Amino acid sequence: TSPAAVIVAIDGPSGTGKSSTSKAVAAALGLSYLDTGAQYRAITWWMLGNGVDVDDPAAVATAAAKPVIVSGTDPAAPTITVDGVDASGPIRTQEVTAGVSAVSAVPEVRTIITELQRSIAASAEKGIVVEGRDIGTTVLPDADLKIFLTASPEARAARRSGELKGVDAATTREALIKRDTADSNRKASPLAKAADAVEVDTTELTLPQVIECVVTLVEEKRAAK
Ligand code: DC
Repeated sequence: TSPAAVIVAIDGPSGTGKSSTSKAVAAALGLSYLDTGAQYRAITWWMLGNGVDVDDPAAVATAAAKPVIVSGTDPAAPTITVDGVDASGPIRTQEVTAGVSAVSAVPEVRTIITELQRSIAASAEKGIVVEGRDIGTTVLPDADLKIFLTASPEARAARRSGELKGVDAATTREALIKRDTADSNRKASPLAKAADAVEVDTTELTLPQVIECVVTLVEEKRAAK
């Protein structure tokens, strides 16, 4: 990474607009973009397809290093492949969503994915926006800017049901709260706000307002570098 490269960590639970915001901010500022949730989803998809019981941490740990996960970091067209196969569709299925918290709680999985994330961030010449759950706390503790996005559970569930057609709002809300509770309470690198993160509550904000807010914060950091 060149000295002028800016590293931005965006963390928070699901349904806060993290992905949309991160992609738009990266595109607006000419930065790379990394969706770390997609990486945990990709490893989960591989486990499910290769007969690994995702609820057996020892089995998951043993298999963790097997799949080769590659992320494309263009915010206009992010990609993810597993062993060379495009995984961008399959990682969004309900089956993967239901299994990903268990897989991502396994320390061996986190070690491998964290190393991958650090090497991707280090090779982004102009800088990168990295979104996830533990980016500001664990993956990139020296990030130039850390954002923690929040929103009320109602707003988050409503946004998710808008994305998942055919699934009713109550079911979505329940699944989302269950996943966030698991992600926040696991031992290994849980979802948490870094002490030096800027918290942005998006409940009452539109997506363009959140994007503008974060773009301004990044520009201030860049100017100060
Ligand atoms: O952002 P997402 O919903 O696609 O993330 C899927 C899951 O991956 C999430 O439930 C927890 C896990 N995850 C994680 O443990 N650490 C990250 N940095 C990103 C995601």
